[in-house]
Amino acid sequence: MASSTTPLLTDHRRDPDSEDAARDQSPATPSGPSKLREILLFVWALLASAGVLILAVWVSHKQQTSFGKPADKRNLIFMVSDGMGPASLSLTRSFRQHTEGLEYGDVLTLDKHFWGTSRTRSSSSLVTDSAAGATAFSCALKSYNGAISMLPGYTPCGTVLEAAKKAGYTTGLVVTTDITDATPACFASHVNYRLQQDEIALQEIGQGPLNRVVDLMLGGGRCHFLPNTTEGGCRQDDIDVIELAQKEYGWNYVGDRSTFDEFEEGKKEVPLPMLGLFAPTDIPFELDRRTMNDQYPSLSEMARTALRALEKATESSDKGFFLMIEGSRIDHAGHGNDPSAQVREVLEYDKAFKAVLDFLDESKTEGVLVATSDHETGGLSVARRKRNMPP
Ligand SMILES: *[C@@H]1O[C@H](CO)[C@@H](O)[C@H](O)[C@H]1NC(C)=O
Ligand SMILES: [Zn+2]
Repeated sequence: MASSTTPLLTDHRRDPDSEDAARDQSPATPSGPSKLREILLFVWALLASAGVLILAVWVSHKQQTSFGKPADKRNLIFMVSDGMGPASLSLTRSFRQHTEGLEYGDVLTLDKHFWGTSRTRSSSSLVTDSAAGATAFSCALKSYNGAISMLPGYTPCGTVLEAAKKAGYTTGLVVTTDITDATPACFASHVNYRLQQDEIALQEIGQGPLNRVVDLMLGGGRCHFLPNTTEGGCRQDDIDVIELAQKEYGWNYVGDRSTFDEFEEGKKEVPLPMLGLFAPTDIPFELDRRTMNDQYPSLSEMARTALRALEKATESSDKGFFLMIEGSRIDHAGHGNDPSAQVREVLEYDKAFKAVLDFLDESKTEGVLVATSDHETGGLSVARRKRNMPP
């Protein structure tokens, strides 16, 4: 992975009028060892704070050997490891190897499918946020930090999920943060700024010019669906969005783990459209969730349930499904400089990734998995430096 960083680091093109250009003017030109030191510091700072290195994983299944699979029916699973940079993976890989006593060469499932890196600056900043990042994923267009599938100038851009729905696909979103948070929001809503979560909730259930485009949503963020008059509601208005979803847009609603468990292992069919909100805001970090296993489903459990539900729903259709799965809280652990939480978030994401691969192997339909990150958070560095020793 180290070698793949080189081209990115030598690519220092600058927008002359961007805010970053002004910041990067060096006041003096140091020479000799101090210049080298400056360069190393700059490289370190760029790596640590800009998070330009993003992991992209691409798995296309059964392209050459689609025995008996319908040629024109496909499923697309798009995975986002929000806020995950190379150091997160490096730490997680070593952590697992050490704690589980695995072989020196042991790697994560993600490592086995590593494909490349990308640079992800937004139109307004050298460091993209999750909103501009997910707008790029969903619309394939660059926009400003905070944009929820909205372009500079505030014109909405059509998303891959909306296009899939229009083409007859069944669609889903699975996250561990609020379902109204930036990444999922960018697939099924359009607002000027990411904090407009009350509006995002309404658009996600189907209130808007395109009506309902999502068939399945699993995650946290229930409070954005409850009115300001109820306990547990964090909306500014008095709209009961869960009730509106059920009455006006035909959603089924599940709000607790025990009902979620009824769908496990295909015991009971998941009725679509399905809105599953399992926490008032974020689902707890995997590290904490495990000790409260009876209260919240994990990312991999939700991913498996979603895959089964969408496969079942498209069984007799000539169109497949589009599913976005986000390991949302790698980002939060990074922001909090909490490596203990971060490694468990990455391990759980790796587990969900493996669950998707297993699904693709077993599925009768051809499928494609694309997994990537938007940016790094926290500037995690896995390093060793001993006093009076060369690095
Ligand atoms: C709740 O929302 C209603 C309607 O938007 C508003 O009139 C009212 O002031 C809000 N109440 C509180 C306590 O914020
Ligand atoms: Zn992010």
